Amino acid sequence: MRRRIAAANWKMYKTPQETVRFFDKFKQFPDATDHCEVVIFPAALDIPAAVQSTLETPIQIGGQNIFWAQEGAYTGEISADMMRAAGATWVLVGHSERRHQVCHETDAEVLKKAQAAIAAGLTPVICVGERYEEHKAGKAHDVLIRQFAGGIAGLTEEQFAKIVIAYEPVWAIGTGQTATPQIASEAHKLIRGEAAKRFGEEAAENVRILYGGSVKPENIEGLMREPQIDGTLVGGASLDPDSFAKIVQASRPLS
Ligand code: 13P
Repeated sequence: MRRRIAAANWKMYKTPQETVRFFDKFKQFPDATDHCEVVIFPAALDIPAAVQSTLETPIQIGGQNIFWAQEGAYTGEISADMMRAAGATWVLVGHSERRHQVCHETDAEVLKKAQAAIAAGLTPVICVGERYEEHKAGKAHDVLIRQFAGGIAGLTEEQFAKIVIAYEPVWAIGTGQTATPQIASEAHKLIRGEAAKRFGEEAAENVRILYGGSVKPENIEGLMREPQIDGTLVGGASLDPDSFAKIVQASRPLS
């Protein structure tokens, strides 16, 4: 049985002080982490405050990005080992805002970062997803197959067993236009199918695939009715403790 995950990607929001305030409030919600894993991805500079605020709780902390080299002359970059040493145990890799919008990360870089994360003992959440034009042109599944082949497929079986995948259609991110549970579920099925071809049925059955893109307390229930959806990666609606607590509470296992 795949354990569900409620994950919060805070992007470039919150200072360390605001991070502490978030957790002071969020930790008051009683069953915040009973029935699923809760992982928060704050900005790198907020990680020490987040780790400190969540000591002796099951809440896990992750980084939003790492660089693939172990160390060296890479001004401004952060290595997987540094991230781990700061107390993070997870990391996002290949978020669409890093692939398309600004940083133009390639599938090959995504693979190198995922490998570096695993080597450092971090769990990478590898993000895939099609852009609006690709969605409109009916090319979503081709894009997912290409991103899988260029990135995730390059992992070994042992590495694949350590990752989580996030399907985040770019047209649904920050637009309020969530993919319907059906669209998300079909994309997840396709990704799981690619995983089965490359890594075998059992590995594909075990990998967790999250959905991200305008997830809110108002639409989480419908998404969580889909057996293919193993949790969510939430941007905007995760910044407020009340709102994210509602999402966590709805991220129950299917009965
Ligand atoms: P929103 O929930 O704000 O659409 O962001 C989704 C996302 O990019 C999570 O990684």
